[in-house]
Amino acid sequence: MSDHAAAQKYAASEEFVAHAHVKPAEYAAQYAASVADPNAFWAKEGQRIDWIKDFTRVKETSFERGAVSIKWFEDGTLNVSANCIDRHMTRRANQTAIIWEPDDPKTPAQHITYAQLLENTSRMANVLKAQGVSRGDRVVIYLPMIPEAAYAMLACARIGAIHSIVFAGFSPDALANRINDSEAKVLITADFAPRGGKKTALKNNADQALRHCDDRVKCLVVKHTGDQTHWTEGRDIDLKAEMAAAKPYCAYVEMGAEDPLFILYTSGSTGKPKGVVHTSGGYLVYAAMTQQITFDYHDGDVFWCTADVGWVTGHSYIIYGPLANGATTVMFEGVPTFPDAGRFWEVCAKHKVNQFYTAPTAIRSLMGMGPEWPAKHDLSSLKLLGSVGEPINPEAWNWYNQHVGKGRCPIVDTFWQTETGGHLITPIPGAIPQKPGSATLPFFGIQPIVLDPATAKVQDAVETDGVLCIADSWPGQMRTLWGDHARFEEAYFSQYPGYYFTGDGCRRDADGYYWITGRVDDVINVSGHRMGTAEVESALVAHPKVAESAVVGYPHDIKGQGIYAYVTLMKGEEPSEALRKELEAWVRTEIGPIAKPDLIQWAPGLPKTRSGKIMRRILRKIAENDFGALGDTSTLADPSVVDDLIANRMNKG
Ligand code: WTA
Repeated sequence: MSDHAAAQKYAASEEFVAHAHVKPAEYAAQYAASVADPNAFWAKEGQRIDWIKDFTRVKETSFERGAVSIKWFEDGTLNVSANCIDRHMTRRANQTAIIWEPDDPKTPAQHITYAQLLENTSRMANVLKAQGVSRGDRVVIYLPMIPEAAYAMLACARIGAIHSIVFAGFSPDALANRINDSEAKVLITADFAPRGGKKTALKNNADQALRHCDDRVKCLVVKHTGDQTHWTEGRDIDLKAEMAAAKPYCAYVEMGAEDPLFILYTSGSTGKPKGVVHTSGGYLVYAAMTQQITFDYHDGDVFWCTADVGWVTGHSYIIYGPLANGATTVMFEGVPTFPDAGRFWEVCAKHKVNQFYTAPTAIRSLMGMGPEWPAKHDLSSLKLLGSVGEPINPEAWNWYNQHVGKGRCPIVDTFWQTETGGHLITPIPGAIPQKPGSATLPFFGIQPIVLDPATAKVQDAVETDGVLCIADSWPGQMRTLWGDHARFEEAYFSQYPGYYFTGDGCRRDADGYYWITGRVDDVINVSGHRMGTAEVESALVAHPKVAESAVVGYPHDIKGQGIYAYVTLMKGEEPSEALRKELEAWVRTEIGPIAKPDLIQWAPGLPKTRSGKIMRRILRKIAENDFGALGDTSTLADPSVVDDLIANRMNKG
């Protein structure tokens, strides 16, 4: 048996199992049914949501190269906003839909009921309509984690507009690119975004971005902190004031199941971010189902996903999944360490959170602060913990289990992607025993397969490793890349024809459990956020003093992976500390703070093949301080380049 199969298994308590949606004996049969007859399985699951006109067709999908087409429930009609709000009005009008916890703990939290959610969403929808936004138009949302972000998403869905959220940590350039790529009519932003006691000047960023956009783009501004901002008459609109004056009800429109709900840009292996498109019916069914089953959510529970709505996790598990299920969902504006390292646990105790979902990078940084922080707060409401964004190392898993879950709470290590809409591989709590570090087994309807990366042959043995693909479609899958279906096929369906390629490597142990080993493409995972190395490289080479750059990931204690940039300067330029700082600041403004290189190494030359291709494999090894395993360097045009890079890496220790 391999180490993995031998890893300790943790089963849920009898008490947990007694209440669980899926019992241990049920998983295997339900899973088998879900893949044996997807039409029957998903026809039933499709009834989780309310349809205006019920669907008669279920699965119409093809992964065939040149003809990739993904449609679910295609002849059904619905409205996503109505599913997340209106359909709960008879039973839950006065139930809290969203608990908003502000950055500053001295500011009172807000409890927004479903009735208030309906009114605020309607008012915002009416403001959008007054600005000429209608069905199919794009609206870019660049907001802090405030209730208006939820209203904005649901308001777009209500009137059939397509939202595209840009994480508030992105720079003006990144924002402008996304506004232009989607040809958005409206930008929704706020004056400032408070986080961890500091304020980001969002409106100022928006002003800079809009200089590079069509003059007709309107800017709706939430006056959140109330601080002064520059104001462009005729373009900028005070959103709260307009909402107060708007009608309190807006009828929802009837949308097709395959009408786009949102675009979300994510990093790929080339410089240009990809506009991942999710549609309405299948996405909502999958988000709702996974929120209920993976987290074993029950009516009346308080659910907290700590992600930002700027990432897919926030879309599916702060807004759409929980609200479709009539849940109470927590929306947190702050950071885990402000005002102190007990903030997460204080909020759990304050709002009696039942399911808590965060990222390994947060757990690792809190682990470093010591177990006294979770010990200070009453965590007895917690029933289940979740993890997402990168593999969770067993040390962090154990700390989370012991000091937060007190050994009582199953930990669901959920593997999925922006492209997948919801969880792909995850332990179904109560039914599947966990192993720390493994995402375990596939969710219903998901057929993972492991391929040999070189030969593309399917690895049939249970115990194996290779690249992870998915053999068939599921309702939450992305449908296309905005405006570029050819790139969609190329990026996901061309390397391994007939399969959806995740871009991740994995190992499957003797129990059939999956262990995700990380990206096999030029994407790195920094604090659970995807960053394309090509994106950082093109930002660096845009600097006038930089001739060339190669960016790779390297192991980082807190972030999982850090950004390691090799930089070759223009002839005549000298490396200096000042220039290093300048380049760091440059990348921050070109892309955003999350893309700032952790290490910059001056490289007089980069290792290249005789045909000029940069040998990243070697650069990765040097960044990892692993000089013994550089592999074959005989194809290098100038092998001495490598010695120089090693000498400089070694100087840094
Ligand atoms: C990684 C976030 C291991 C993986 C939902 C994937 C994970 C990328 C896990 C997607 C996990 C996410 N275990 N790796 N539980 N969850 N990943 O699009 O490399 O921001 O391809 O979606 O994160 O990142 P994305």
